[in-house]
Amino acid sequence: MTRYILGLESSCDDTSAAVVDEHFRVLAVRTVSQTNLHALFGGVIPEIAARNHIAWIFPTIDKALVESGVAPADLSAVAVTNYPGLLGSLLVGVGAAKGLAIGWGKPLIAVNHLEAHIHSPFLGRSERPKPPYLALVVSGGHTTLMEMGEGTATVLAETMDDAAGEAYDKIAKIAKLPYPGGPAIDKIAQTGNPERYALPHLMRSGRFKDTLAFSFSGIKSAVKRILEDEGDTVALADLMAGFQSRIVELIERRLTAAWEQRSYTALVVAGGVAANSAVRRMAQEFTGKRRVPLYLPELTYCQDNAAMVAATAFPKLDRGEFSPLDLDVTATCRPQTK
Ligand code: KG4
Ligand code: ZN
Repeated sequence: MTRYILGLESSCDDTSAAVVDEHFRVLAVRTVSQTNLHALFGGVIPEIAARNHIAWIFPTIDKALVESGVAPADLSAVAVTNYPGLLGSLLVGVGAAKGLAIGWGKPLIAVNHLEAHIHSPFLGRSERPKPPYLALVVSGGHTTLMEMGEGTATVLAETMDDAAGEAYDKIAKIAKLPYPGGPAIDKIAQTGNPERYALPHLMRSGRFKDTLAFSFSGIKSAVKRILEDEGDTVALADLMAGFQSRIVELIERRLTAAWEQRSYTALVVAGGVAANSAVRRMAQEFTGKRRVPLYLPELTYCQDNAAMVAATAFPKLDRGEFSPLDLDVTATCRPQTK
């Protein structure tokens, strides 16, 4: 009999529920985005996010279940993101998942949000990479390089300041571009000349040069200064093209360095910024040169969604990795130890 998992995701500002089967087929995924609410502030306001998760979590679960045609009794487990993320937001999904697991008598499976993003390219596909493979999660909350082993996920490097998507969103706000900034900058950058402005090459020198760490504060400050100095006369498309090219250049340098340490079987690039046209192009060229497969999520699965949470839970279901019903949440990338 085919096994099904109900996944829930509420770690930031998307309320999502999905039913996925053991072949990673997505039977239903429903996501309520709060982008329009947070656009008023140019960034996610945690209290507003948590309140809206409370309003939307059960209607979203209902819709996903009805659309999937799977009865609660036929589910093998309820999976939920419990870290990392905004605490108030995480608590809503985890509270709902616990209640359903108790009420339906189903196992509860806790999922790391970053691992979930890494599973997003596998949705609706039959093939998956063999460990060890390299995975990069680039989103509004994370820029994290991970080594994926057999049932293990090791963080190789993280950002020392902003996440890549956060840098996009902050620069877009200063440039008076729409929120979220990533898609807006990506669009305008495609018409610009990246060499017009002399922008710094990120972490090409200095004491972090030979690490795998990321930092976007240098490019953010440089672009902010130009925007403030030049005001309305700025060549915005050229400046945004330069900003984007420096970010992609750093990501490529870090992937190259990680690959020099160990040759991996495949590359996964996931998260909101994996929707970026220049990031996707760079990743295709990177893996093309090394003749290894590239796993990129479909555009709809780049943003936060519960289908990737349910998919991530299947190997855990196989290994019997269930969570206690007093499951807690954690803001950071490290799992909670009791
Ligand atoms: O994964 P996600 O939906 O939420 C987080 O977990 O953060 O990612 C949202 C982020 C935002 O910062 C948004 O600006 C960025 O992804 N983003 C992009 C693009 N589309 C979304 N950044 C660059 N280029 C894009 N095309
Ligand atoms: Zn995310």
